[in-house]
Amino acid sequence: MKHLVCGWIGVICLLLLSVACSRKEADYTIAVSQCSEDDWRAQMNKEILREALFYPGVNVEVYQAHDDNTHQIKDIESLIERKVDLLIVAPNEAEAITPVIEKAYDAGIPVILVDRKINSKKYTAYVGADNYEIGRKAGEYIADRLGGKGRVIEITGLRGSTPAVERHRGMMEALKAAPGVQVVASAEAGWFRQKAGEVMDTLLDAHPQVDLVFAQNDRMAIGAYEKARQKNRAGQIAFVGVDAVAAGVESVAEGKLDATFIYPTGGDKVIQVAMAILRGEPYQRENILSTALVNRANARVMQMQMKHILTLDQKIELLNHQLDDYFLRYSAQTMFLYACVVILILAGFLFFFLVRAFWVKNRMNTELSTQKQQLEQQRDQLQEQRDQLIALSRQLEEAT
Ligand code: FRU
Repeated sequence: MKHLVCGWIGVICLLLLSVACSRKEADYTIAVSQCSEDDWRAQMNKEILREALFYPGVNVEVYQAHDDNTHQIKDIESLIERKVDLLIVAPNEAEAITPVIEKAYDAGIPVILVDRKINSKKYTAYVGADNYEIGRKAGEYIADRLGGKGRVIEITGLRGSTPAVERHRGMMEALKAAPGVQVVASAEAGWFRQKAGEVMDTLLDAHPQVDLVFAQNDRMAIGAYEKARQKNRAGQIAFVGVDAVAAGVESVAEGKLDATFIYPTGGDKVIQVAMAILRGEPYQRENILSTALVNRANARVMQMQMKHILTLDQKIELLNHQLDDYFLRYSAQTMFLYACVVILILAGFLFFFLVRAFWVKNRMNTELSTQKQQLEQQRDQLQEQRDQLIALSRQLEEAT
């Protein structure tokens, strides 16, 4: 009986403790493999992590490959081995990264491509802008800005990455409608600011007359602008970029860049699609985010909006910290409550045993005193019988 009761107390304590201590385990692990690290990607990562906060039980890990195919392949290989639940990948170069993404897809891991694409249909969804469309819009803008006539230099991103190819194709297509606009040179700067400066140095020497530089991202546009300024040529050239995150918009507002095009980061959308895939809900395979022109006319307004969004972001972060604090306090209080319940239950058991012991003792006392009374009665009877026997024996003696 004692053992049974002790066993039950143990089970109750264990149950209560496990409920009190159970913090929700991560239900899903989502891994993000970024090809590079820069302001644009930092913005996307921030959006991804912030959106993931709205899905409890989701753990997001971000890896970045430093613009190195081998590094990115290694990252993805190890994520396949770890069997993460979902992969989000911005492939550095399409050809090099395609096989490892196919491998992940074939292993049953859903893959969402962001911003850059691969040479295969083996992916689950794509989230990003239409880079061909961005190139086309840039081409139309260039033709309009130059009044249908002028000399253009193009500085491209990494040519093995799909946005570089698509933006180039789009721009060339749009410029077909403006035969007076000539692309006099096209050079690769791998998406880097410094490399764009170096490339620009040579191109400026080779081309004494340049009216506009279209760099496929703002970082390269700023690098090209700075080189032209060093060579006292910036005043005669309009610089157009793509991305429109903080530095790009600021450069437009300051008049360094003539214009840029929004290249939406869409981190929140990526997580929404990821969660739909993981939960088996309907989702769209191709999620095309839209672009827009940022020029002198709207750059300041855009800066104000970005500032406002930043403040809201900070507030969300603060709220998240406060939530963490509340959760900690709540856990401590819950633990305390459970400890009180356990103590109360133990006290209850103790009280029960005490009352029971008291009751048993009383009952035994009563039984003992009854037995004592009976024994005393028997003793009295025996004494009486003994006295009678003695009397009898005396009578017998006297008679004989
Ligand atoms: C960021 C970036 C952007 C560019 C995009 C193209 O890493 O270089 O500047 O628009 O990648 O994939």
